[in-house]
Amino acid sequence: MKVIIGDRSKISSLIADIVIEQVNAKPNSVLGFATGTSPLEVYACMAKAHQEGRVSFKSVISFNLDEYIGLNGKHIQSYRYYMDDNLFNHIDIDKKNTYVPKGVGHYKAYASKYDEKIASYGGIDLQILGIGSDGHIAFNEPGTSFDSLTHVTDLMEMTIKDNARLFKDIREVPTKAITMGIKSIMNARRIVLIATGKSKAQAIYNLINGPITEEVPCSILRRHPNCTIYVDDEAYSLVKEERLLNGKGI
Ligand code: F6R
Repeated sequence: MKVIIGDRSKISSLIADIVIEQVNAKPNSVLGFATGTSPLEVYACMAKAHQEGRVSFKSVISFNLDEYIGLNGKHIQSYRYYMDDNLFNHIDIDKKNTYVPKGVGHYKAYASKYDEKIASYGGIDLQILGIGSDGHIAFNEPGTSFDSLTHVTDLMEMTIKDNARLFKDIREVPTKAITMGIKSIMNARRIVLIATGKSKAQAIYNLINGPITEEVPCSILRRHPNCTIYVDDEAYSLVKEERLLNGKGI
């Protein structure tokens, strides 16, 4: 696992460049997308690159990591709405090739077919990830099996509190989500994770230095053959502190 340190703009544009390179090399790439605040600048850079004619997404297939249960795609806090608003409406991707798990209707049946759908396109070439302050990836909360595939899950109190900032009232935050599993994520051929800010420092410390355990879902990424972590100074601060204390330098 590689670690790259830079400010938010720098690491966002580095990740966008990786996506652009991937799509230019293989126009029908299968991309895995995350939502949340972390990848927003990455998506803005991708949209800009498209508008400047540096990349076309017209043959790309995409799969999103997760969706809240109970929100349909027209709800402003749904992840389908987020993806349309922050990326898909600004690039030439064919929306029928964009898969965001369904959080309404027969969502359990949908979950059980999601990994097969990904496999039917040959698997994910490049997965973008964020990380929760409790170490979750997608909505795989502490304790989720490393063998998990796409499933429906309860959100932890910490995640509900973290995400409440985007809702008018914490009582509006859904308590369940449909999420790709840890195994679904580990099946991606390449993973890039972005984390910025002090609130991610402990999770990044655990990811880099802690034990590999289901109690810290992100820790499994250390076993991935092609995973790079992009962090800013704040997210890296606890790792840096320890390295300096041990005389190892940054
Ligand atoms: C979202 C997702 C989540 C977020 C994580 C961090 O699709 O999978 O795991 O990446 O909760 O969220 P932000 O980026 O808002 O801090």
